[in-house]
Amino acid sequence: MSIRYNEKDQTITLLTRSAAYQMQIVPPGYLLHLYYGRRTEGDLSYLYLDHDCGFSPNPWERQDQRGWSLDTLPQEYAGSLGGDFRTPCLELSTDRGIRGADLRYAGHTVTAGKYALSGLPAAWAREGEAETLTVTLADAASGLQAELLYAVFEERDLICRALRLKNTGDQSIRLEKAASVCLDLPFGDWDWIHFSGRHTMERRPERRRLLEGLQGVGSLRGASGHQANPFVILCDREAGEEQGDCYGMMLLYSGSFLAQLEKDQMGAVRLTAGIQPELFSWRLEPGESFETPEALLCFSPEGLGGLSRRYHRFLRQNVCRGYWAERPRPVVLNSWEACYFDVDEERVLALARQAGDLGADVLVLDDGWFGNRRDDHRALGDWTPNPERFPHGLGWLARKVRELGPGFGLWLEPEMVSPDSALYRAHPDWALTVPGRPPTLGRNQLVLDLGREEVQNWIYDTVAGILRSADISYIKWDMNRELTDVYSRALPPDRQGECVHRYYRGLYSLMERLCRDFPRVLFEGCAGGGGRFDAGILAYFPQIWTSDNTDPVARLGIQEGTGYGYPLSAMAAHVSASPNHQTGRSTPLGTRAMAAMTGAFGYELDPGKLTETERQEIRRQIARWRELESLPRTGELYRLSRPEDPFAAWQLVSTDGGESLLTVCMRAVESNPRPLWLRLRGLRGEGRYRIEWQERAGCLEELSELPEREYAGSALLYAGLTLPPLRGDYPAMQLLLQRTDDNE
Ligand code: GLA
Repeated sequence: MSIRYNEKDQTITLLTRSAAYQMQIVPPGYLLHLYYGRRTEGDLSYLYLDHDCGFSPNPWERQDQRGWSLDTLPQEYAGSLGGDFRTPCLELSTDRGIRGADLRYAGHTVTAGKYALSGLPAAWAREGEAETLTVTLADAASGLQAELLYAVFEERDLICRALRLKNTGDQSIRLEKAASVCLDLPFGDWDWIHFSGRHTMERRPERRRLLEGLQGVGSLRGASGHQANPFVILCDREAGEEQGDCYGMMLLYSGSFLAQLEKDQMGAVRLTAGIQPELFSWRLEPGESFETPEALLCFSPEGLGGLSRRYHRFLRQNVCRGYWAERPRPVVLNSWEACYFDVDEERVLALARQAGDLGADVLVLDDGWFGNRRDDHRALGDWTPNPERFPHGLGWLARKVRELGPGFGLWLEPEMVSPDSALYRAHPDWALTVPGRPPTLGRNQLVLDLGREEVQNWIYDTVAGILRSADISYIKWDMNRELTDVYSRALPPDRQGECVHRYYRGLYSLMERLCRDFPRVLFEGCAGGGGRFDAGILAYFPQIWTSDNTDPVARLGIQEGTGYGYPLSAMAAHVSASPNHQTGRSTPLGTRAMAAMTGAFGYELDPGKLTETERQEIRRQIARWRELESLPRTGELYRLSRPEDPFAAWQLVSTDGGESLLTVCMRAVESNPRPLWLRLRGLRGEGRYRIEWQERAGCLEELSELPEREYAGSALLYAGLTLPPLRGDYPAMQLLLQRTDDNE
């Protein structure tokens, strides 16, 4: 039983392998949060003393206790206007003008399995993997009932949370804020980490001391965005890769979000996160319900590395679904950086021939194949092959590509419409635009109103039609601008605040239908690279194009930052041409491959422009990838370097400790560099290991190989391994350790 109710103490405790999470029902019906941290037991309410700190109001029923205030006590889910002046979770107004919410306990249930959300991405549980706690709170004045949902995955150290709101009264309620999660941590001196960036430079960790007052991250973009990510970490100030208590909060949501941390007058911390309340409102008529997106709370007593590994496992095994979730992914050759918009049958078949010759699995035809799409000024929405460039159509093309070896993949950007397109001319009202105001363009395009069912159906029919017309095994689903002019022609004036969230409900329902009806197609998410890299997308599409930046040295940082929360199997990573098209930097082909092999591996270049020696090297790389791909896909990640180190060193260890891949890439080189001394992690101390193979790339001089002798696991863990100093143009090395004593 991972959920325990103690009637005497009125406590409810959620237990995971490493953590305990406790709440308590106290008169007159408040639900206090007592604890979340390392696993312990007993009633933890002794932590909270009645303490009158002044100017903290008391509930009517506690008027004799000046030291009892919602303003200073930790709450499980904070309402508003009830004496707690910290960040509220719930804000509303009714048609009778009632504002705020005074949430009182009205009951709870514990059930086997995991709760379900309708129309939103959510984690899933195998039999026996999860238990659900539903706590009902009610606000008498507005008639709003809030069900706090908790699914406890004991073995995974993970608690899923969401909120189901019901209008049980007779007034219309307008929700103005409904956070998915609230976490009050009363004590401690914390750091917090978020992942900021920009297009082609996504998700660099920003670690700061948590200061008094309000701080946070969010997006107003109508997408999770390149600039911020719906994932934050709160950790001990001294927490490092392998030590210290860390808490993670990750939203399964791809729209505008807000995550806030507030350190209050008592030094306590409140973390809230959910749909961005700015530009959001939702009307709940009597009898109607609303569910918030889900949040994944994770606790690791084993530092940031332990937190990452917990999220990786969970996202791979309990968020990703379907045929491709845990299967080896195809090695793709993508046409974008090889051809940009300049694609036709001849060029595609030439690339397919190359892909076949190199041993790639899928040739992906990127942008430029449809309508009169010569550049990014036109044709989004006109999803039929350009008759001059592709006179034989997609069915023929896919067949021809297959005859040359690889499968056939296609780029689509179904959420968008170009003003210069037949679709826009036929349905101008399908685009998000404000009446009487010229719309804002992004990459010369407008956004379709995915909240509308007819738009969803049109996209479904179009994509399904394409998938039925040709043998397509892979779709890259792009989204190259964010949402402005959020006004839906299909919504009444007082529901316009629902537009962005309805867009995402529409998108998720489309993704759900397409994944259900085309289960063998591998869908890859993309939004100008990593502009929508979140767990909401991963609940449908198991991988995402990590960044439009394919420079391997820049990618080390981007993939490292992304990897704090998201598994390597989710990060599409391609080897591209050198000099790199985004940064102009030249790097060795071997280094490019080693960096890309810490993701879902592929290529993004024209092999016809390479020398035969380089093509030979690519054949070897692909063969190597097939040997090691299960490590990035299923293994445990250990970061041996810090973001500020001049090198990136990552170790992947198979779950049974039998194999480990070490990758070291230099981000900068020094003259007369020192050898690199690394203590390995994750190996079995009692085991013995042998270096199965080792490779170098871009080294200035011939370096002697590490001896291929046996090493004690404990020696590699405690004494470490010394690697030769790497000098050259972005040199890198990779080695595979194999346990040799498996059968002893
Ligand atoms: C986005 C993607 C790229 C490419 C282009 C095509 O920027 O991230 O990989 O597909 O669109 O227009």
